[in-house]
Amino acid sequence: MIQFILNEQLIKTPLPPGSTVLDFVRYQKRLMGTKIGCREGDCGACTLLVGDFENDKLVYRSMTSCLMPLINAQGKHIVTVEGINMKTLSPVQQAMMDTNGTQCGFCTIGFVMSFTGFVLHEENKEYQKAVECVDGNICRCTGYKSIERAAAVISEKVNDKPADSTIDWLVKNEFIPAYFTDIKTRLLALQNSLQSNGRATDGLTIGGGTDLNVQKHQIVKKSALNNVFDSKSLKGIRIGNNQCIIGASVTVTECSESKLMQDIFPNLDKHIKLVSSTPIRNMATLAGNLVNASPIGDITVFLLALDAAVVLNNKNSSRTIKLKDFYKGYKQLDKAADEIITQILFDVPSANAVFNFEKVCKRTYLDIASVNAAGLIQLDEKGDIEELHLSAGGVAPYPKYLSNTIAFLKGKKPTSSVLKEAIQVMNDEITPISDARGTADYKRLLLRQLFLAHFANIEETVLNDLLIH
Ligand SMILES: Cc1cc2nc3c(=O)[nH]c(=O)nc-3n(C[C@H](O)[C@H](O)[C@H](O)COP(=O)(O)OP(=O)(O)OC[C@H]3O[C@@H](n4cnc5c(N)ncnc54)[C@H](O)[C@@H]3O)c2cc1C
Ligand code: FES
Ligand code: FES
Repeated sequence: MIQFILNEQLIKTPLPPGSTVLDFVRYQKRLMGTKIGCREGDCGACTLLVGDFENDKLVYRSMTSCLMPLINAQGKHIVTVEGINMKTLSPVQQAMMDTNGTQCGFCTIGFVMSFTGFVLHEENKEYQKAVECVDGNICRCTGYKSIERAAAVISEKVNDKPADSTIDWLVKNEFIPAYFTDIKTRLLALQNSLQSNGRATDGLTIGGGTDLNVQKHQIVKKSALNNVFDSKSLKGIRIGNNQCIIGASVTVTECSESKLMQDIFPNLDKHIKLVSSTPIRNMATLAGNLVNASPIGDITVFLLALDAAVVLNNKNSSRTIKLKDFYKGYKQLDKAADEIITQILFDVPSANAVFNFEKVCKRTYLDIASVNAAGLIQLDEKGDIEELHLSAGGVAPYPKYLSNTIAFLKGKKPTSSVLKEAIQVMNDEITPISDARGTADYKRLLLRQLFLAHFANIEETVLNDLLIH
């Protein structure tokens, strides 16, 4: 029996754990406000809010209900547009109307839910953040300018919002209905009762479902599921013995909000914004990205350039394997069917190492890469390359650790002529194919430029005669 709070109502349902939250709210509860667009996480028409505890705080995140398996709603507060409707329009709904942010209306509920997620976050006030929170919502009618105006109105209206009693303030100012005040207590009681029931651990492993429910939703629907998304032992980011240890089910959002990660990667925010959209990042786990084994997986390419390792566990044993040895061919992994990733490990780069991640797609945001690349470069006191890890996506059947290029460059000074030779070595170890994301030649050219971009972060002058403008 799956139990959660839907808007104000406690739900207990025997429905399959792999049915989607979208189908539940529309067809079981007849809450038709949540719309169906693409069913692939792309359009945002099905966006709703999911409330859960993070470090004892009740936090609401926007998620695409078309990809969210029902089991992932267990013990949470699911909020559809019906759950924020009141006698009068909320300031978010009013702003969308006043600025002509809605025309045909099909996308509007998704935008309203994303903006409501924005105001529910205790720190969010700035206009830019309001605009960013609708990065997973597509509108075919308005041209977005009116929605940007709505974002400006909404961010102004939450200017006085206090960080310590956000829910009370939002209730008082009629952003959300009064029942929200009791949700924290109700959710705690629900979660305590569920803990004693335990949770199944056999079945198809599922994280956020953002890959599985796009590629295999019929299988997910019929399968018993091992929901690792909510497994507490697979959460958390910590540092011990100069090693960063990340729980396999940490989401991309949790990663980007982690102070530890921000300290290690000063450009983390810029890099992570290139990955999918806010609702998908709120659902997508790091291990899901690694096991999906897409040749252009962004998180995979990022972690490969840190020479990361994964810890694999089954019921009887545990082993650790370098990510560069994990991939054996297109979607082929060194992983037994009963093994799950429990942790991701990498050595914290030294303070003078430079890390860079690059991604080129047909559009800047919410797109998969034509080619992506990451690099960790550390020079010694003579200016020779002491430590180097390079990775690339979209140029081989699986995310590629560029072993030969690394071996060629180690111990050398990254001069223009050395980098020119290194590009030749790199070209010999990649095998891009022509497809919808570009020709093989184009991908080679892209990777060349991204490779140089890593080094541009170290010594701009070295590259002058290599750059193609
Ligand atoms: C609209 C949209 C945009 C996207 N954009 C991007 C993008 O820009 N860049 C990008 O890289 N990806 C993107 N993705 C892909 C996807 O979001 C990521 O790959 C994500 O990290 C997958 O994580 P998940 O938890 O949702 O995986 P799931 O779908 O839950 O699982 C994926 C696979 O991993 C397995 N798995 C999950 N956790 C574990 C574990 N702990 N141990 C063993 N196996 C496990 C599952 O069995 C399954 O085989 C996008 C997806 C969508 C729908
Ligand atoms: S229906 Fe398009 S994102 Fe869910
Ligand atoms: S108002 Fe028509 S799709 Fe946005």
